[in-house]
Amino acid sequence: MLNGENMSAVMAEQSVYIKRVSELLKSRKSTVPKACVTTYGCQQNVSDSQHLKGLLLSMGYELTDDPDGADFILFNTCAVREHAEDRVWGNVGAMKKYKAKNPNAVLAVCGCMVQQEKNARRFRESYPYVDIIFGTQVGHRLPEFIYRKLSGERRITELELSNENIPEGVPFFNDGGFKAFIPIISGCDNFCSYCIVPYVRGRERSRGSRAIISDAEKLISSGVKEIMLLGQNVNSYGKGLDEEINFARLLRLINDIPGDFRIKFMTSNPKDCTDELLDAMRDCDKVEHHLHLPFQSGSDSVLRRMNRKYTFDSYMKIVRSAREKIPDITFTSDVIVGFPDESDEDFQKTLELVSTVGFSALFTFIYSKRNGTPAAVMPDGVTRQQKGMRFDRLLKLQEKISRNVLGSMVGKTVRVLCEEYSGDYIFGKDEHQLNVKFSSSEDLTGKFENVKITSADDVLIGERV
Ligand code: SAH
Ligand code: SF4
Ligand code: F3S
Repeated sequence: MLNGENMSAVMAEQSVYIKRVSELLKSRKSTVPKACVTTYGCQQNVSDSQHLKGLLLSMGYELTDDPDGADFILFNTCAVREHAEDRVWGNVGAMKKYKAKNPNAVLAVCGCMVQQEKNARRFRESYPYVDIIFGTQVGHRLPEFIYRKLSGERRITELELSNENIPEGVPFFNDGGFKAFIPIISGCDNFCSYCIVPYVRGRERSRGSRAIISDAEKLISSGVKEIMLLGQNVNSYGKGLDEEINFARLLRLINDIPGDFRIKFMTSNPKDCTDELLDAMRDCDKVEHHLHLPFQSGSDSVLRRMNRKYTFDSYMKIVRSAREKIPDITFTSDVIVGFPDESDEDFQKTLELVSTVGFSALFTFIYSKRNGTPAAVMPDGVTRQQKGMRFDRLLKLQEKISRNVLGSMVGKTVRVLCEEYSGDYIFGKDEHQLNVKFSSSEDLTGKFENVKITSADDVLIGERV
């Protein structure tokens, strides 16, 4: 658990509630109270949950994965696609039985899905056993919410999107072991026409570089080997801050921290992926030779309607420039199939882009209508079946390409961060974000190892050098 150096005023206020909750819990129960946190969605949400867990630990809870018997149950939700939401409705519904068994248990839902008024209303109206409902910008006030609930308030709903500075000094529990997330910017100002994130996460807000570097230094000195810098668009980092900083400069500052560790980041929006950033990636020895650069569609007309602000050609220009500067760089991406009225020609351009770039991996999504976004009211003549067929074609193409990318690595030596040891094999990732396995008689989890790649199937297979 870490505490930021400059605890903000809001956190000083919360520290009073932390103490009060901790005293209340001790006075009511002789055993250590348990808290179960379930997280959906992207890394930002995982990182938010790490802060919520940090707060829970500081109040005296112990963490468990089992909601049965837990004294505090929290669901941190995602709204990006319908499927993500459906899972939450079902799983929160299933908590009714635990509340019946243990009426003193406190049930809370938070995050992106809850931030939409219609979902908050449905939780309030149809899920009477949910005690606390809070949005994406007030998680640091969890101690206050729990205190109010334990002091007799029946139900608490807090959904304020103030867009104020991100509070520093929120306790943080790194359950990622030797890998850690550091949020650097939160919110999104891009309003891609299909996307709910700007509505549920609010405006872009960057953290000051001193706080970020201080987090990184602490994590590295505690033995962390991989730092993932997080933001919906890390390339916007620094806008609105009082210091002369942008994402490229931040990368250089973190790279200068002494120690043997690796730096990753996501997500980088192609519309402002600059040469300055690619130069920083080339110059910084700790930054991975990998770029996750979501393209969403290869068709200029779809990209225009998506409000993505780049084209097939300008995207390819970034890819070429990155390869000139960092010849062994790999790319991964996100793509949406079946955007409203996507034509066969549009989809062909997506296939063309995928073939031209040669991504090592692709995260493919079928378009999901999000009410309240501009795309939700666009006419859509594409049938479900057509979308499904396109999706399958894209997956098949990508499978072939992934195999080629992996095949091209045979004979090379890579540096693997070992992540897991099982069945005499080490599984890990190299500096290109490719999966590698090699045999080992000892557990090397959390260590870097040089591995010579000898063959490839769906992962790279090699031997220690
Ligand atoms: N900020 C990141 C994306 C965050 S959401 C970026 O701009 O690249 C992660 C991915 O979910 C997106 O890249 C997109 O491919 C997908 N996604 C977002 N909204 C979606 C929707 N309505 N339907 C289907 N996929 C969606
Ligand atoms: Fe959504 Fe676009 Fe923002 Fe990414 S950049 S979070 S896709 S609005
Ligand atoms: Fe989902 Fe919110 Fe992330 S909508 S993808 S958890 S920012």
